[in-house]
Amino acid sequence: MPLLKKTSAPERYSFAQIVLHWLVAALILVQYATSGAIVRMNQTRTLGHTMGDWDDILHKVHMRVGLVILLLMGGRLLLRLLLGAPLQIGNPTLWTTKAARLAHWAFYALVFAQGVTGATASYFWFPIAPVHQALFKLMLLVITVHIAAATWHHFKLGDATLKRMLKP
Ligand code: HEM
Ligand code: HEM
Repeated sequence: MPLLKKTSAPERYSFAQIVLHWLVAALILVQYATSGAIVRMNQTRTLGHTMGDWDDILHKVHMRVGLVILLLMGGRLLLRLLLGAPLQIGNPTLWTTKAARLAHWAFYALVFAQGVTGATASYFWFPIAPVHQALFKLMLLVITVHIAAATWHHFKLGDATLKRMLKP
């Protein structure tokens, strides 16, 4: 349901919402793949050694891609507030339907918080790094449930939940 416009929920996600959904998902995978290098790098520094070139590159990729994710999420939030999202398929009184809505908003909060804590750890205040790490564990939990739910809708219930996030 759009928050900024007093109209009913749209029938489908817009092309831009779909592209942003999959782009951010792919970039979060990049973040996971590059994160080990930063942790390795911090350990190497603590031991007084210099880091390898490859880890240095991965570190830079992690920071830049993280900032891009923040920007994309800003655009995504704006679209979500302006255009809304189609109603969840299924009985609206079921706890699973309500949980899906909650999980979607949790994603917005978690991805933003992850980006902000990462940037804070890098540029301003490193002690926040454990929060950045803990948030990712929480995000992994929501991602697992999210993927399980999408798979369940597609293969078990056979509804259009996944299809409408693939095709406008
Ligand atoms: C928004 C998406 C982001 C995701 C999903 C993400 C994910 C991660 C993950 C999984 C780790 C490793 C945690 C571990 O091994 O336990 C990590 C570490 C780190 N990330 Fe990010 N990150 C994001 C954004 C950023 C940004 C924007 C920056 C900086 C500009 C950043 C800077 C760091 C730093 C400095 C560490 C090392 C923390 C430490 O050594 O404890 N991250 N990130
Ligand atoms: C880290 C990765 C992911 C994040 C952060 C994420 C986040 C979200 C969010 C916030 C929504 C709500 C719609 C919106 O506001 O854009 C959504 C919807 C959706 N996502 Fe993801 N998602 C991720 C990965 C995936 C994956 C891997 C799949 C498929 C296996 C998937 C399938 C779906 C589907 C089918 C919907 C539509 C649900 C509905 O219409 O009720 N997502 N996702």
